Amino acid sequence: MNILVTGGTGFIGAHTVVELLNAGHTPIILDNLSNSSPKVLDRIADITGKTPPFYEGDIRDRTLLQQIFSQHAIDSVMHFAALKAVGESVAQPLRYYDNNVSGSLILLEEMQKAGVFSIVFSSSATVYGDPEVVPITENTRTGGTTNPYGTSKYMMERMMMDLQAADSRWSVILLRYFNPIGAHESGKIGEQPNGIPNNLLPYVCQVAAGKLAELSVFGDDYPTHDGTGVRDYIHVVDLAMGHLKALDAKAKTAGVHIYNLGTGVGYSVLDIVKAFEQASGQTVKYAIKPRRAGDIAVCYADPAKAATELGWRAERDLATMMADAWRWQSHNPNGYDD
Ligand code: NAD
Ligand code: WQD
Repeated sequence: MNILVTGGTGFIGAHTVVELLNAGHTPIILDNLSNSSPKVLDRIADITGKTPPFYEGDIRDRTLLQQIFSQHAIDSVMHFAALKAVGESVAQPLRYYDNNVSGSLILLEEMQKAGVFSIVFSSSATVYGDPEVVPITENTRTGGTTNPYGTSKYMMERMMMDLQAADSRWSVILLRYFNPIGAHESGKIGEQPNGIPNNLLPYVCQVAAGKLAELSVFGDDYPTHDGTGVRDYIHVVDLAMGHLKALDAKAKTAGVHIYNLGTGVGYSVLDIVKAFEQASGQTVKYAIKPRRAGDIAVCYADPAKAATELGWRAERDLATMMADAWRWQSHNPNGYDD
């Protein structure tokens, strides 16, 4: 299939482009490079031997979208493009609603005009807010989001559901990711955070690499086995494979299709530190600090629906996630600028 991949030079987008190419699909990338490097394209070519068409531009640029839809017979859109920094979204809510919500609105309108009625959307476990019960199923109540980034994901989901309800030609696939980490096993593509990382694994990697002094563990008084927060970490390549399975199973089936993409297993912050130290042979210095505002204690998926309906399951274990993250970090201390 010809797949328009918005945000295709970003962390999850790039890994998915690799798997799309490996599976014989034709990804067409649109990215404004606001949080990624064009050098990703060379790395994708190194891994796959193929160079997908790339458009540098914004999902809010209608003229560019019209040009892409007229030049390529697009079968489906994988929509990764978004701003994703939770703290930044609190400080700059309108920028987040403009980029994420208005951007998606414009993309959907242009898809409709072009007669493309199939979208795979990067949603997030953040739409569940602070869940009352874990594991989280797709029927767990959504909303109650705690920051503008999360609210933007919730709003985009609702917008696509309403659109599908109004026009039954649409296939809307909402993939709710848990905590994606790791990197491609080649060590050629991975996550390149802008500035000081917000997320746990990139921070741990940079402490191990000597770029940051120590990890702050945000709280050790949660009701978990060791008091630190528990999350469902999923290897980014497993996540990418989930997109391919969803595409195969549902991209041509009208309806709203919602799947949690997680492993179903929760690990604490200290579990992660230990597993990383074992996989990398490095010591990760850390100090216990107060809880981070807005954090929840425990979050992990019930991934059974994706297993049953898509035939997808996360296959890579925690040790592999850590080893791959460290390979990427140690081979590319300055990310794509090396
Ligand atoms: P990323 O920042 O690495 O990738 C997003 C890409 O989109 C970047 O390359 C950026 O330049 C591009 N982009 C942003 N706004 C754009 C616009 N207006 N027009 C064109 N391109 C634009 O982030 P990621 O981690 O790869 O996340 C991909 C998607 O998955 C996002 O929608 C994110 O919200 C979602 N998600 C991520 C996580 C996570 O923890 N990484 C978890 C759940 C959901
Ligand atoms: C994981 C755990 C922290 C950093 C965020 C977004 C969510 C989704 C994924 C996109 C928590 C602890 C972290 C640090 C720490 N993104 N931690 N020290 O908060 O689960 O989810 O990214 O949709 O929307 O909110 O991920 O990696 O930030 O934190 O102790 O320096 O690590 O408290 O328990 P989170 P995270």
